[in-house]
Amino acid sequence: MDADRLIASFHRAGQAQVFAFFDQLPAEARRRLLGEAAEIDLAEVERLTRTLLAQNAAEGVNLAGLAPAPYEKRPEHGGDPAAWARAKAVGEEALRAGRVAAFTVAGGQGTRLGFDGPKGTFPVTPLKHKPLFQVFAEKIRAAGTRYGRPLHWFIMTSHSNHAATEAFFAERKFFGLDRGRVHFFRQGRMPAVGFDGRILLESKASIVLSPDGHGGSLRALDRSGSLDLMQREGVGTLSYFQVDNPLVRSIDPAFIGWHVLRQSEMSSKTVTKAYAEEKVGHFCTQDGKTVVVEYSDLPMAMQREKDASGQLRYIAGSIAIHLLDREFVRRMARSTSSGQARSTGSAQGGSTDSGFVAALPFHRADKKIPTIDAAGAPVTPEKPNGVKFEMFVFDALRFARNPVVIETLRADDFSPVKNADGVDSPKTCREDQLRQFARWLRAGGAAVETDATGLPGATIEVSPRFGYDEDSFADAWKKLSPKPAVVDGLYLE
Ligand code: UTP
Repeated sequence: MDADRLIASFHRAGQAQVFAFFDQLPAEARRRLLGEAAEIDLAEVERLTRTLLAQNAAEGVNLAGLAPAPYEKRPEHGGDPAAWARAKAVGEEALRAGRVAAFTVAGGQGTRLGFDGPKGTFPVTPLKHKPLFQVFAEKIRAAGTRYGRPLHWFIMTSHSNHAATEAFFAERKFFGLDRGRVHFFRQGRMPAVGFDGRILLESKASIVLSPDGHGGSLRALDRSGSLDLMQREGVGTLSYFQVDNPLVRSIDPAFIGWHVLRQSEMSSKTVTKAYAEEKVGHFCTQDGKTVVVEYSDLPMAMQREKDASGQLRYIAGSIAIHLLDREFVRRMARSTSSGQARSTGSAQGGSTDSGFVAALPFHRADKKIPTIDAAGAPVTPEKPNGVKFEMFVFDALRFARNPVVIETLRADDFSPVKNADGVDSPKTCREDQLRQFARWLRAGGAAVETDATGLPGATIEVSPRFGYDEDSFADAWKKLSPKPAVVDGLYLE
């Protein structure tokens, strides 16, 4: 679109303020502003303004008919061991056939951690201080070797960390992975708007744009050509995980097997909540669909509700680990939210059953957004002055056929680095890794001294190249001769 037509479309949409200072700008700044404006889908902004902004932010979500979602229990919690064994065998078969790829969402801003640089470059392991990306790279490489088929790895970045992420991989020689199988692509951006729906400027020459949420990954996978690449390579399933969780079993055959056997379009892992008020999303059902309801949207009385046996009713917590069917992603990516129906606190397009187009809804987040005023002077707000729009990947569940939720153990799959200290911090994550290494070693018969929480006194580390889950570790440990003593500084590679 040429510049005049683009500017005219903003005028028609009531967004003329975006170009208020255009005539004062040097040529380069004009080009940049036009580039940013061209990213914006004005009809989408108008729709979101009409639906989400019209809502009272304090309005509750629709809880009608909500019930706890069923999930497949682990064998040690009463699940059927034969069904789990069969799932694992089917998952291994899919891996041997090269039908699965890894997918990391790494486009977040990581504000809580306060680390300067892409979060994936943050050092996390206890002894070697390997960065998050290296941990995943080594797990993916090891899984490729184990199943005799190197895996493709898709990594979603953001506009602001894309170049730094690519440079980091290049500097580290892709951690030994085949470069041709590591694919980076940027997620989309959304403009922030004031409470009046007008798009905010960051400066006279730039629009406030921020990543469109991890749910933006579905569109970005399609737009970047990743889905076509998967199709050409015979890959049908994406193993989705977040960049901040080094404990994740990024390639988990049992999980893949459940997904395949149930012909699921989107599957998820759950951990049972540690306590009633734990701040996690809750797997629920509503109108026959599986949904995730955030803790902030589930009344405290429901969070604390118990069943007849004294167990929490809403016990299945979401840990942001999913499997996604390629064609399901394509379907979701290509539908546009109609913004007509409202459910669980978002503007959304309704389900295929009701005749609407299924699409991921946007959520609003009211924020303090630095901007400029009508005269172009900077404004640093002390209270929220506008809204950012984000999509959440778990909202896709409601549109998936045959969604499966399986239980996993927190200790084997989930210890994210979110905050600089306290819960979910580098310290808790380091300790959870140490506990995991100690468990694997003990299971192999090694003498490991630990405290009551299972934390070893010695700082040790197991490279994913040696073992990346209990099975691969057990196989490698069995073959190791002589076996080393578990002392400070032990590194198994
Ligand atoms: P978080 O919800 O923890 O957000 O993201 P964040 O931006 O990383 O961190 P804070 O809230 O600013 O501290 C969970 C996962 O989703 C990815 C993140 O990179 C992380 O892996 N994510 C989040 C995206 O890829 N894009 C987004 O727009 C948001």
